[in-house]
Amino acid sequence: MKKTAKKIIDFKKQGKKITALTAYDYSTAKYFDKAGVDIILVGDSLAQVALGYGSTTQVSTDEMLVFTKAVARGVESALVAADMPFMSYHISIEEGIKNAGRFIQNGAQAVKIEGASPYIIQLVSRLTQNGIPVMGHLGFTPQYINTIGGHFVSGKDTRATLEILQMAQALEKAGAFSVVLEMVPAESSKFITERLNIPTIGIGGGRYCDGQILVSDDILGKYDNFCPKFARQYSSLKDIIYNVARAYCNDVEKGNFPSISESFTLDNEEARKLENYTQN
Ligand code: KIV
Repeated sequence: MKKTAKKIIDFKKQGKKITALTAYDYSTAKYFDKAGVDIILVGDSLAQVALGYGSTTQVSTDEMLVFTKAVARGVESALVAADMPFMSYHISIEEGIKNAGRFIQNGAQAVKIEGASPYIIQLVSRLTQNGIPVMGHLGFTPQYINTIGGHFVSGKDTRATLEILQMAQALEKAGAFSVVLEMVPAESSKFITERLNIPTIGIGGGRYCDGQILVSDDILGKYDNFCPKFARQYSSLKDIIYNVARAYCNDVEKGNFPSISESFTLDNEEARKLENYTQN
């Protein structure tokens, strides 16, 4: 059965830890779904890991939609959320609603939005009133990298933690069904998590969050330009990909690929005829 935004809130009430991963293509999404991942996020991290851009600010809505459609086709059970990319929701509430609607019409069940300024809170409220579930994103917010100036931990003291809590409570009041806490000290995340009715999903947010999310290329060991401290690498897919491509090149170069069983063949009589055929 398809997991819904309401179900994700219920998981917090039941004390069930929420599992979330990013995915960007059909087959990865399909196997994450089969493995039981609760939320599959088409993260704008695809800007770096799938498209090779320098930051998430470079990916467009049209590009994000291609990946969203592919992921949605692979998923039966998980809630598919799509990141609204930089500048797709900042210009006006109307444009934000229109762009969010495109993600829903193309297979997502929710959108993720960074920040909690009064404008964002108003947008979240309008989106949820219009039937579009919203996941918030606080702490380090990558779309603001050019004003923040680097990858910094947020909520490093009581005052900063209270600020994040207030923003998270405003998101909850506006109707958000969950909030990502990125690069927030474990104790601060715990304090915030205990004061919200909606689940917190940590990424570098420590163990007390209601759920965890990581970038799939980080856990698979596929993207090595940068691996954050908080990502646990379960595999080294980049080595597997490299070794497979090397073995393939080797086989082709040495004439070891393809074998007879990997080829289509004529029946014996046709093969003999063809061999004895002489052109006039
Ligand atoms: O784009 C992304 O991958 C994210 C993270 C929270 C996983 O926003």
